[in-house]
Amino acid sequence: TKIAVFASGSGSNFQAIQEAIENGELNAKVELVVTDKPGAFVVSRAEKFGIPVLALNPKEFASKADYETAIIEALRECGVEWIVLAGYMRLISAVLLTAYPQRIVNIHPSLLPSFPGKDAIGQAIEHGVKITGVTVHFVDEGMDTGPIIAQAAVSVIDDDREATETVIHKEEHLLYTKALQQLFK
Ligand code: GRF
Repeated sequence: TKIAVFASGSGSNFQAIQEAIENGELNAKVELVVTDKPGAFVVSRAEKFGIPVLALNPKEFASKADYETAIIEALRECGVEWIVLAGYMRLISAVLLTAYPQRIVNIHPSLLPSFPGKDAIGQAIEHGVKITGVTVHFVDEGMDTGPIIAQAAVSVIDDDREATETVIHKEEHLLYTKALQQLFK
């Protein structure tokens, strides 16, 4: 399965997916990494793996539709079949959703529908929940609202945000690979 990974930040999920592919755990090929942040660390990670990067600044386009249309052209050129969002900090509009119906997935660091949006881990800790987790879901026009594909629970470690984050990110890397393998069968 030919995929594109969209990311705006560190890209640890991208790396976990790429490593799972290289280990033979995931039957896919990352044809392209798409980022809206040319300076993001995910770009260095992609280069290390020799994967082409499309870095487009949305502000240089007249509209979101134009921006997404440019992305779609690049995706079509590489024959991309699925879009995997991994820390991509933008809502996807109808233009991309129509081009890839039921073929765009996202990972979010909470048990949705709890704590959508930014800093889900901080929101969970602030709320005082004892169990949070990770969700893989199909993408729709909302913020972290599409149909749920897979979830895993993670216990909050009292008074230790950093340790809790570490466990959540580890779980993300495992769950995303597993969920994608199911989808690509
Ligand atoms: C992850 O926590 C993901 O769930 C969220 O953004 C973060 C991205 O991390 N949507 P990374 O860039 O993959 O390291």
